[in-house]
Amino acid sequence: MKVLLINGSPKTNGNTAMALGEMIRVFESEQVETELLHIGNKDIRGCIACGTCGKRGKCVFDDMVNEAAPKFEQADGLVVASPVYYASANATLIAFLDRLFYSTGFDKRMKVGAAVVVARRAGTTATYDELNKYFTISGMPVVSGRYWNNVFGCVPGEAASDLEGLQNMRILAANMTFLMRGIALAKDAYGLPEQESVTTTNFVR
Ligand SMILES: Cc1cc2nc3c(=O)[nH]c(=O)nc-3n(C[C@H](O)[C@H](O)[C@H](O)COP(=O)(O)O)c2cc1C
Repeated sequence: MKVLLINGSPKTNGNTAMALGEMIRVFESEQVETELLHIGNKDIRGCIACGTCGKRGKCVFDDMVNEAAPKFEQADGLVVASPVYYASANATLIAFLDRLFYSTGFDKRMKVGAAVVVARRAGTTATYDELNKYFTISGMPVVSGRYWNNVFGCVPGEAASDLEGLQNMRILAANMTFLMRGIALAKDAYGLPEQESVTTTNFVR
């Protein structure tokens, strides 16, 4: 059982890292393998809609996105965490996710997704919705905790005072472990749901 965690903050030791660290401790205590990628301090450009990935099976820009793709393919769960910037996710993370999800053709169904957002004060639920949309267009069940997955803090380390937020991170990781195990059992027993062939309807006249 493996979880890939993406930290979208440019700060490797900031509040987002602290929220993820709380989850990682639970995963490790449950013998769930973890891998943490800090992408927020990398030079990651946005998608240019060139369509090269459709032919080559990987993004035309050979950076962290292509590095993360096989790790995502092997993972049973994906945690995507972002600091809130102007009531939205960090722009580098969005560039990364657009390209990761668009350029990878592998089956993402039943990989469990969790979004985590960290802010000083506001914009958390909008960012949470934004991140969950990558999972919910991909057949990925979304796991929840006891609250929406917000952790509050401004300067690095301040999230340590958000005891409820950090507790929710632990609950989220425990729920995610349970869900991944349940899905693994169900896959063994029943296999993945049958897929219909793709029908694409573009809303243009
Ligand atoms: C460019 C920028 C925009 C921000 N916008 C918001 C915001 O809209 N709402 C908010 O509550 N905090 C905002 N913040 C504060 C961060 O979300 C907060 O400091 C968070 O703890 C940073 O996480 P990190 O330490 O993991 O980087 C912003 C910070 C920056 C640098």
